[in-house]
Amino acid sequence: MVMNLYDQCIFLILMSTLNANPEPPAYVYPEQVHLSFGETPLQMVVTWTTFNFTSSLVEYGMGELSSISEGSASRFFDKNDTGRIWYIHRVTLDHLKPGYKYAYHCGSTQGWSDLFFFTSRSIDVDWAPWLAIYGDLGSSNGQSIMRLQQEVVRNTIDVVLHVGDFAYDLDSDSGRVGDAFMRQIEPIAAYVPYMTSVGNHEHAQNFSHYRARFTMPGHTDGMYYSYDVGRAHIVSLSTEVYYYGTKAEAAEQLRWLEADLTTLNRRKTPWLIVLGHRPMYCAVKDRSDCNYASNPVREELEFLLYKHGVDLAIWAHEHEYERMYPVYNYTVCNGSAEAPYKNPRAPVHLITGSAGCVERHTPFRLKPPFVAINNGDYGYTKLRVLNSTHLYFEQISDDQAGAVVDRVMIESHKHGVGVFTCHQDN
Ligand SMILES: [Fe+2]
Repeated sequence: MVMNLYDQCIFLILMSTLNANPEPPAYVYPEQVHLSFGETPLQMVVTWTTFNFTSSLVEYGMGELSSISEGSASRFFDKNDTGRIWYIHRVTLDHLKPGYKYAYHCGSTQGWSDLFFFTSRSIDVDWAPWLAIYGDLGSSNGQSIMRLQQEVVRNTIDVVLHVGDFAYDLDSDSGRVGDAFMRQIEPIAAYVPYMTSVGNHEHAQNFSHYRARFTMPGHTDGMYYSYDVGRAHIVSLSTEVYYYGTKAEAAEQLRWLEADLTTLNRRKTPWLIVLGHRPMYCAVKDRSDCNYASNPVREELEFLLYKHGVDLAIWAHEHEYERMYPVYNYTVCNGSAEAPYKNPRAPVHLITGSAGCVERHTPFRLKPPFVAINNGDYGYTKLRVLNSTHLYFEQISDDQAGAVVDRVMIESHKHGVGVFTCHQDN
């Protein structure tokens, strides 16, 4: 049919009227699926995203998907682009049988995710879990993502600990960078718990993207909390409260920390591991606070970690790997000259911030006496809680095809308040 000019005008007006209020597409398919530990060892939390509202269901079971749990969805939008709305769904699976493999999928009757699997947390005292630990992993140049996916597929890690700085940044481009990052880590985080600490790159809009996208135990939006894995008690802190928070918020975290450490049963979980994004010690060629004795993280936290016998303090922020000797108040507190990590007399500090991001590497400065080794390769740390006396960790290099570039065994036969004695000798 050939239209004359009049017909063409009528046709175009009709089409523009039809397109003025197009029906929005229904984005009800679950994406960005990830797991985290719940409030009790028998819980696992499933978190995911849809761009239209749906109900929040997880079907799961050890063989068939015989159980169903319902949670809720929170509406979320970026404050700089209020036209972009999405929904974060959270469902807690409770009363899991410890140490068993479960299958699950999440979504609603409008659309289900792929089928995923996880192993529920074991409560066996002989369980020796492997933890992958790193910070500063971006959506672009995310060097360690591929190898971590391989680890998950091969069942060689049980938990992931991401010690701050995600995506670069979760809120960039009105959250689209965060969405891309959460999709990238789904092949990892949909299979093992992805436990998070907050970093400086999450600070925009009062950390709202970080608070919304992850579901950590403790009712603090993931800012500080603790949980047990095998024979280790793990405490995640916000170092950002000293930079972006109020004095009252910093004091509240400190009160919580003191209470958590005071009530800890070290016979049940002898190993005490603390994580936070910004280190209190480092030896890098930049203007980071950790290069200087006077930094708020050290001033506010170091004595408490020492007093309560924290075995290992893990940080990131600097894009490199640094293993320290046991150190307190800038003094090396080795167990002995021959065996620094056997019955150490102060917390051992570790920086692992080299999983890869757009900012690339942080260069080193000359090693001070408290730094045992540094390594500039991209990579991540693997830690194994072996038993009540031995804690092993190693550094994996992505630059060297997964080679182990550092390994250490910490051996401790005493744990708890008052075990560190470095101050008496110095
Ligand atoms: Fe950082």
